[in-house]
Amino acid sequence: MTRSALLLLLGSNLVNTLQSAPINSHGETKISNLNLILKDVNAQNITEFTGFNVSLKLTTAEGYLIDQYNFRVDTTDNQGVYTYTSLRPETLSTTISIAWATNIPPPSFTTTTEFTGSTPTRGPTEEPTTTPKLPSDCDEISNRTSGVHIIYPDGKTPVSVYCEQKNSLTYTVIQSRGTVGNNISFDIPFANYSDWFGEAGIGNNFWIGLDNMNALSTNGKSYSLQIDLCCGSQLIAKQIYHNFKVDTKANQYTLTATVDIPGIGLDYASTGKDIGAPFSTYKDYKLPKGKPECDQFEYEDDDGNLSIGYGGWWFGSCGNNLNGFLYESIYGNCKVTRFATTKLLGINMRTSSGQGVGGYDVDLVSYDRVRMALFTFDSINVDRLDDTFCR
Ligand SMILES: *[C@@H]1O[C@H](CO)[C@@H](O)[C@H](O)[C@H]1NC(C)=O
Ligand SMILES: *[C@@H]1O[C@H](CO)[C@@H](O)[C@H](O)[C@H]1NC(C)=O
Ligand SMILES: *[C@@H]1O[C@H](CO)[C@@H](O)[C@H](O)[C@H]1NC(C)=O
Ligand SMILES: *[C@@H]1O[C@H](CO)[C@@H](O)[C@H](O)[C@H]1NC(C)=O
Ligand SMILES: *[C@@H]1O[C@H](CO)[C@@H](O)[C@H](O)[C@H]1NC(C)=O
Ligand SMILES: *[C@@H]1O[C@H](CO)[C@@H](O)[C@H](O)[C@H]1NC(C)=O
Repeated sequence: MTRSALLLLLGSNLVNTLQSAPINSHGETKISNLNLILKDVNAQNITEFTGFNVSLKLTTAEGYLIDQYNFRVDTTDNQGVYTYTSLRPETLSTTISIAWATNIPPPSFTTTTEFTGSTPTRGPTEEPTTTPKLPSDCDEISNRTSGVHIIYPDGKTPVSVYCEQKNSLTYTVIQSRGTVGNNISFDIPFANYSDWFGEAGIGNNFWIGLDNMNALSTNGKSYSLQIDLCCGSQLIAKQIYHNFKVDTKANQYTLTATVDIPGIGLDYASTGKDIGAPFSTYKDYKLPKGKPECDQFEYEDDDGNLSIGYGGWWFGSCGNNLNGFLYESIYGNCKVTRFATTKLLGINMRTSSGQGVGGYDVDLVSYDRVRMALFTFDSINVDRLDDTFCR
């Protein structure tokens, strides 16, 4: 199959539309009727969707240039959302979210038609199924009340998750840490991370399981991931990623996602990144070539005592581990400078792109409430300052 080059043309009135569109308090705007034209540059039929190019110019009403950039989105997803942040030195960055949907039908299951005798006849027509499809995520649950609900990520196996309705988004919470309700160990064998464990609920400790993450990744939807990090009742950061997927190629659970703000969180770059890394516990971790050590496992505290590993994560940068040891926060201070008897690093996630104290990849913190939640609609509806999860 030949790779068709596709060109994404933004409506020529884009700049005018931006000027007149309502802008919310975070400076975000939504263009709902933007004309996106998928054109096959070779004037052949489109056989394969491999992504699109975006060319954007932002000006003020007076015509002064605010920002201008071109980028390419390599994707074969039928639909999705891509957010691009243009970092501009010494001034505010500009962020755009592009939602796309192609008219290329998703790959369908091939049905075999049996021919009997010499007369070719059509096979038996399929009875319309009367069993309603089981909800695979919180979006598919008709009960729109926030709370614990049962979903069936693989279409048949139930799992209880916390569903949250917020600003016209429905969140499926796939991981959470906190001191409410339960305090369960995340320092468990690699094999135990494939299935769910813990207890769904706000501020509880919960993991939906790598197999369920993979099932959600292969249901044809495109999920965005929101990570909330709290210290005490304070929201430290809200990180957003798009096209979140956990692949199971080569018996590894590899993390895929596209980035909202480059260089931080899952995109924090050390010798590697968490995006693209396989899931492992510190016991199964294989140091990639050229990487001297993984700072999640060996870190010296202020007493000069070395830490040991805890839990499992996509240890690519070794700067993050939301499945780290849960330290109780003292007066809302989440700094962990002495491991005391635990010898453990806490729940940490890079919120800056520069290296941590002493050139190490980790931040010496342990957030006391964190959450990973999936949603399927435009992230323009995310209130990036909303801290209700932390309170
Ligand atoms: C899209 O962008 C890529 C790289 O940025 C470039 O190689 C390609 O020619 C562009 N395609 C079109 C149709 O403009
Ligand atoms: C494109 O598709 C149409 C309709 O399916 C077909 O008639 C036409 O021959 C195709 N063109 C090429 C270049 O494949
Ligand atoms: C809807 O979900 C909420 C939260 O889980 C629950 O309390 C309520 O009973 C449910 N309502 C119905 C009609 O099932
Ligand atoms: C891991 O899973 C096995 C099999 O389900 C179970 O017997 C064991 O208790 C689990 N271990 C931990 C530490 O959760
Ligand atoms: C959780 O339990 C461990 C021991 O099992 C304890 O050391 C730790 O302090 C507890 N954490 C919280 C937040 O209660
Ligand atoms: C930490 O290091 C100090 C000094 O080397 C030592 O006295 C202390 O026992 C160590 N603490 C732990 C918990 O290993």
